[in-house]
Amino acid sequence: MSEFERVASVSEIAPGGRLSILVDDLPSLLVRVGDEYFAVEDVCSHDGQPLTNGALKDCSIACPRHGARFDLRTGQPLCMPATEPISTFEVEVRDGEIYARPRS
Ligand code: FES
Repeated sequence: MSEFERVASVSEIAPGGRLSILVDDLPSLLVRVGDEYFAVEDVCSHDGQPLTNGALKDCSIACPRHGARFDLRTGQPLCMPATEPISTFEVEVRDGEIYARPRS
C-alpha cells in the first residue's frame, strides 16, 4: 500500500476552493467542500480533458469539455458522456497539513 504524501496545507485552500497537486506523480485535483477534502485524478475518463477548471456543485465536478460530472467521493460518473469512473485518493488531515495516497 502506498504511503500518504503531504500535498498541501489547509491554509492553501479555502472552502469551495481547489488546488492542483501531484499524488504518486499523477496530476490530481484537491477540492475542499466545507471542511471536507477530496482528491481525484485530474483527467476526465471520457476523453482526457483536465478537470482543473470544472464547475463544482455539491460534491461533484463537471468536465469543462463535454459536461460529464463526477462524484468527488467515489469518482463515479453522474451523467453522460462519461461511463467510467476517475480515480480518487484517500485524504487525511493532520496538524493543518493535507496528505493523500492512492486507494489500495
Ligand atoms: S472529455 Fe470530459 S466529458 Fe468529454
